[in-house]
Formats: sequence, C-alpha cells, structure tokens
Amino acid sequence: MNEQQIREEMAQLCVSLFERGFSVGTAGNVSVCVEDGMLMTPTNCRLGDVEPDRIAKLDRSGRHVSGDRPSKEVFLHQALYETRPQTGAVVHLHSTWATALSCMKDVDPEDCIPPITPYVVMRVGTVKRVPYIKPGDPKSGDLIRALNGSAAGILLANHGPVVAGKDLFSAVAAAEELEETAKLIVALRGIEVNYLSDAEVTDLRETYKGM
Ligand code: 13P
Repeated sequence: MNEQQIREEMAQLCVSLFERGFSVGTAGNVSVCVEDGMLMTPTNCRLGDVEPDRIAKLDRSGRHVSGDRPSKEVFLHQALYETRPQTGAVVHLHSTWATALSCMKDVDPEDCIPPITPYVVMRVGTVKRVPYIKPGDPKSGDLIRALNGSAAGILLANHGPVVAGKDLFSAVAAAEELEETAKLIVALRGIEVNYLSDAEVTDLRETYKGM
C-alpha cells in the first residue's frame, strides 16, 4: 500500500470504530508506521471525522512534518514501535468495557484477560496493565517501555486500552476483540467460568502464531 492508500484506510477504519461506538467524543487515536516515519490521527479530532489529507505525519525522530497537530498520546505509540519492532500500527481507545477493566482493583496487572475464548488468545495475547498517568504525559512512553515489548495489549489504568498490531487492520481487530472480551469478563463476574486450559492456550498460540 502506498501512503495515500494507508491514509484512506486509516480514515475509513477510524470512522468505522466511531460509528460502532468504540470511540466517543474526541477519545482515541490511531497511528500507522510508514517508511519515513509515522502517520497519526490529529489531536482533539473525533475518530468519526478523520480525513486522509489532514492526518498528521511525523518523521523518524518524532518531529511533526505535515498535517494537523498529532495526538497528544504520540508517546504511547512511539514506545510500542520502539519495543515491539514487529508493530505496524497502534490503536488507543477509551472503549467502555476495556476501560472498566482498567479501573478494577482485582485485575492482575501482569495478565488482565483470562483465556475465556480463543480469539482473545489468538488476536490479542497477554494483556498487561500499567499504572495511571494523565493523558498526554510523556512518561506514558516510559511505562510502556518498561514492559520491554512483552505485551501487544495494554490497559492504561483508569484510562483505556492500547493495542499494537502488525498492520492497521490487525490492530483494529485486536482492539475490538479486547473490548468485547472485557465486556464478557465483566458480565461473567461472580459466575463460575470454564477457562481454556493451558494446553488449549498453547495450541492456539502455536497454530495461529503470526497470523
Ligand atoms: P488526542 O485527541 O490528543 O488524540 O487524545 C485523545 C485521547 O484518547 C487521550 O487519551
């Protein structure tokens, strides 16, 4: 895909996320790694209003070179590209159920999502939680870097999910999967649940590695 096609896909998927309620107001931001830098949704822009030609472009050093002013969460995105070199795109949302999970006291920060269904294992993998930090704080990048690339899915405590994917389509699909799984987890609280076994999880990871 050339840059123009990537911009068009970004706008289309951002609008789709917005129209289906994964983002409300001006919450959320999306980036895609390109040959000479990064494309990033503009700050204070509804995902439903993202226009291909207004998407911000940053060079490899993170300098804003064109388009509208980039999201203030650029540090989160950069930290994922740095620590997970296989990352081609990053999606950050304030989607309701994953954000609910990010606020709960009894969630294991090292493994927030128990294996209740196969797709969360296949599409998202281990999800970790990092401590609260205010939106746009550059230190958010340090929190992500401290995970050393060990998780593609991260919950920012009391804020929302961030998901890295090999490309934009995968990152968006993983963010959607994480949101729906978080909803199931909250719906099943207090109910005895059959989890996938360790052997079933290993089998899924091996079968669908890199897919
Ligand atoms: P931006 O509008 O700067 O992208 O910030 C939105 C957001 O999701 C903050 O966490």
